[in-house]
Amino acid sequence: MSVPSLIVAPSILAADFAHLADAARAVEGAADWLHVDVMDNHFVPNLTIGLPVVQSLRKTTTLPFDCHLMIENPDRWAIGYAEAGAYNVTFHAEAAADPVRLANDLRAAGSRAGLAIDRDTPVDKYLDLLPHLDTVLIMTIKAGFGGQAFLPEMLDKVRQVRRAVAASGLEIRVEVDGGIADDTIAQAAEAGADAFVAGTAVYGADDPAEAVRRLRRLASGASDD
Ligand code: DX5
Ligand code: ZN
Repeated sequence: MSVPSLIVAPSILAADFAHLADAARAVEGAADWLHVDVMDNHFVPNLTIGLPVVQSLRKTTTLPFDCHLMIENPDRWAIGYAEAGAYNVTFHAEAAADPVRLANDLRAAGSRAGLAIDRDTPVDKYLDLLPHLDTVLIMTIKAGFGGQAFLPEMLDKVRQVRRAVAASGLEIRVEVDGGIADDTIAQAAEAGADAFVAGTAVYGADDPAEAVRRLRRLASGASDD
């Protein structure tokens, strides 16, 4: 199977929670991953969905799940998402007690392992962890809510991670999340991101699949006409 050079991952946080299976199917064939934001009302103030919903939703779509855990104690809870069949499980650096052990456990459970870095967290001290990771997610907003404005100053962290990944020779996705839309995705791609989460820009559009295709064209540097 060929590996897509760019990943577009619609976030169902911006979809209608009463119709999540429809939201997933609406982007099948256009999206690469489905981004699932799990929030616990502790690590972030917001509360979204958890494991039972992910388990049920897993049966409704062929799209790989990119589970973004904005939760406390991922060391305890993240593994369930891997066991539920998530393709990638991303936990927050700020929340994990033992990120290397957790990443290893996720991989052993059959998932890829992702580390997320929130807005106010420098990435420097986490670069040593790259050999244990498959994705590094740089928040381009403060984690917790969809529909916030993109923070271009976060792109320095994207550049930093991209440089470290290139130097390592490892195959690691550099993912951006927050405010990714038609007018921001190209600068994130230019900074070195190769996986793009988009909530509002996809599910706020009349045609979510077309919005995904447009974002992909814009990220790959093609003109949008
Ligand atoms: C917020 C979530 C994001 C959110 C992005 O903390 O991690 O995935 O869905 O939403 P938009 O694309 O609307 O900024
Ligand atoms: Zn997210």
